[in-house]
Amino acid sequence: MNILILGSGGREHALAWAVMQNPKCDKLIVAPGNAGIAKIAECASFDINDGPAVVSFVEENAIDFVVIGPEAPLAAGVADDLRAAGVLTFGPSKLAAQLEASKGFTKEICDASGAPTADYARFDDAEKAKAYIRTQGAPIVVKADGLAAGKGVIVAMDEATALDAIDDMFGGAFGGAGAEVVIEEFMEGEEASWFILCDGENVLPIGTAQDHKRVGDGDTGLNTGGMGAYSPAPVMTDGVIQKAMDEIVKPTVKEMAKRGMPYQGVLYAGFMIKDGQPRLVEYNCRFGDPECQVLMMRLGAQALDLMLATAEGTLDQAKVNWADDHAMTVVMAAKGYPGTYEKGSAIKGLDALPEDSMNMVFHAGTAEKDGQIVATGGRVLNVTARGDSLQDARDRAYAMIDQIDWPEGFNRSDIGWRALK
Ligand code: AMP
Ligand code: GLY
Repeated sequence: MNILILGSGGREHALAWAVMQNPKCDKLIVAPGNAGIAKIAECASFDINDGPAVVSFVEENAIDFVVIGPEAPLAAGVADDLRAAGVLTFGPSKLAAQLEASKGFTKEICDASGAPTADYARFDDAEKAKAYIRTQGAPIVVKADGLAAGKGVIVAMDEATALDAIDDMFGGAFGGAGAEVVIEEFMEGEEASWFILCDGENVLPIGTAQDHKRVGDGDTGLNTGGMGAYSPAPVMTDGVIQKAMDEIVKPTVKEMAKRGMPYQGVLYAGFMIKDGQPRLVEYNCRFGDPECQVLMMRLGAQALDLMLATAEGTLDQAKVNWADDHAMTVVMAAKGYPGTYEKGSAIKGLDALPEDSMNMVFHAGTAEKDGQIVATGGRVLNVTARGDSLQDARDRAYAMIDQIDWPEGFNRSDIGWRALK
């Protein structure tokens, strides 16, 4: 079959890498793609957030299956346009994507389904929001309701920070996303993510992972899109998984179906776990980036079969074949990220690295210029390895990093520290 993947990050490189290994894939196009993806698939350029443009491309190129990587096209309803045109598509409808696009909506679903999560209140008025913060005190968490590229959450350890966050959000710092805010109880515990395929009715978990959001070693410094990840996440014990499934995931999927907005795609659930009890932090309606890289490393070619079963509504007959393995990915970013950074520096040494089922460098912000790979973004490479143990995966990933010659880049040196300590 002919397959189209939408997106351009390390997540989409990993998806493309897994899909290409499956004999069902005759041709793969990724839009817009990047320099790493261009080595294994055709790349195309058009506006991936424009539903009619995506549908025309699909029709002109006889595409049989579309996988939507990032949240923006999902929130824009691209999956709805594709399905209306009869195209088999992996990814939720615009209504179902509200689980990521509106934090207030997710809270409403938690209330209706009894899923454990932080206590909260919603406000569209700054003064009322501030009065609420003053009665609750700190620590407290202030969230812009809408999509804010991962920057719309302020975990305030003191009241002044929380009040400032209200001024920023209602002052337009996140555009329309901040016109409403959710103010939440601060939850303590250890965070982990769980990825569950849903076909509207049936659910199939495909792995746990832990991300590293802070830019610096020891989880210090500014928040980023994610500096590294590993799978599985030991904090997601069998007991936690069972509770998360019974108390949070299944009730959510049932509530969405009841509301006439069945969830089809991957549900990325973030939990805070304390004393063996998971509580929902957030849902995302797509694979995590860089979490997807470690999941794809572990799933390989079967990822395509599983995504097809999701889109076709046959997840009840699907099954994941697990190897008892571990994977780690370490993000290399341009110096200065997540603040300002230079673009255009050359990255050397990549050609000498192995590219196989145990070791892969997935590209994020890269382009090819005059035969060289150059950095074009903040997060640039995802150096990824699989192993029999997490330590083994970690050793392989950092051994590859040692061979990459990119003075303008940096990486965290402690990915996996919680699980390895
Ligand atoms: P989100 O964008 O919703 O993933 O939030 C970003 C990060 O903020 C999460 O990964 C958590 O580390 C933190 N966070 C969000 N909500 C809470 C909460 N209620 N209590 C503690 N930390 C939170
Ligand atoms: N790595 C966090 C995210 O994809 O949202």
